[in-house]
Amino acid sequence: MASIMGLSNLAGISSGVSFPASQRRLTTGAKVGSSFKIMCTSGDGIKKVVEPDLSVNVNGLNMPNPFVIGSGPPGTNYKVMKKAFDEGWGAVIAKTVSLDAAKVINVTPRYARLRAGVNGSAKGQVIGWQNIELISDRPLETMLSEFKQLKEEYPDRILIASIMEEYNKAAWEELIDRVEQTGIDAIEVNFSCPHGMPERKMGAAVGQDCDLLEEVCGWVNAKATVPVWAKMTPNITDITQPARVSLRSGCEGIAAINTIMSVMGVNLKTLHPEPCVEGYSTPGGYSSKAVHPIALAKVMSIAQMMKNEFPNQDLSLSGIGGVETGGDAAEFILLGANTVQVCTGVMMYGYDLVSKLCDELKDFMRTHNFATIEEFRGASLQYFTTHTELVRIQQEAIKERRAIKKGLANDKDWTGDGFVKESESMVSN
Ligand SMILES: Cc1cc2nc3c(=O)[nH]c(=O)nc-3n(C[C@H](O)[C@H](O)[C@H](O)COP(=O)(O)O)c2cc1C
Repeated sequence: MASIMGLSNLAGISSGVSFPASQRRLTTGAKVGSSFKIMCTSGDGIKKVVEPDLSVNVNGLNMPNPFVIGSGPPGTNYKVMKKAFDEGWGAVIAKTVSLDAAKVINVTPRYARLRAGVNGSAKGQVIGWQNIELISDRPLETMLSEFKQLKEEYPDRILIASIMEEYNKAAWEELIDRVEQTGIDAIEVNFSCPHGMPERKMGAAVGQDCDLLEEVCGWVNAKATVPVWAKMTPNITDITQPARVSLRSGCEGIAAINTIMSVMGVNLKTLHPEPCVEGYSTPGGYSSKAVHPIALAKVMSIAQMMKNEFPNQDLSLSGIGGVETGGDAAEFILLGANTVQVCTGVMMYGYDLVSKLCDELKDFMRTHNFATIEEFRGASLQYFTTHTELVRIQQEAIKERRAIKKGLANDKDWTGDGFVKESESMVSN
């Protein structure tokens, strides 16, 4: 166990020292200790298995497990957010709100799906999901009164407001003030919606421009009294740049990723692109299983940046993208995420998905004797290096194996009897 704990320390982004901005923020509850082990020896010398502990403490917020409803349809009104708490989600992030919902006009259809299987056969499993849905089109007053009601009914559960506004300091300040008055526990700032309203300098239009982002983050963090997470767009060359700017500007956490800019396809009979609205379409946001590997890469590079540039600070990272199993979540955590958000998975499989996610994550932890999330958070980050370094490591390893002379030395030794086996023996000899 000692070596396992050593690995998690290598991630270097575990909680400890407070980030200056967080000192003015409200904190609730104590840090979760990582000291108890999954195996303990009782007085009679028999080893007993201790149930893995999924609880996390993130920026001072206590959650029963790391599974968070990602902003979107699963957090769109009181009824569904209540369902999420009742089913046991660790936290809920509501659908993004802005001051004037009347400016948000949605169209239908607004979703399109990509299925696995021959020519996207209608029976194939859904692996990709595109939406051209905007932020919440429900009146802000309605959303705020629902946040208030939820916090009154579930005072110990974590409710996070997702917000987005135009490039206007007073508007951001008013929105922050109004959402905070409902008693929400934290704010996620949507700097990342890929479609709609770029002309109003909203969403990804801010997240893709580091100067603009720094200015808006400055306004937000000067006003907010609860922890602030900045949600990143993957539609940018280097996602560590806006993540760095957000943390330097006082945000306590980074959430990544929002959807990936996409065109789902073109109907080969009608020649119209999908989703098709009166014959026309617009690029949308891609999510679900197919984006998981891309999200892992983005989270990995943000975690490396945080480990190197913001060590030992109470900052957090929330991994998002294509989570459907406890294993998907474990991967995000192994790459440094404190929490894991799920949006499309809930739309496809329902709110009770959380019990499967918890069971599968616990199974993973039991297999490795991990007692807490902190024990393995960031443990796999150390295995990433450059391609140049991979070449050097492999050449050295081959040299060492050749010294023991097993398998074929090189191509001239091939017998032609089982090329795959012979080629593998060259690598492993
Ligand atoms: C239909 C739909 C609507 C969404 N609306 C929002 C939103 O209002 N605000 C936001 O920050 N993200 C929104 N998202 C993005 C998700 O929160 C999430 O970042 C993304 O879908 C990737 O995660 P997933 O594969 O678990 O869905 C939306 C996603 C979908 C599919």
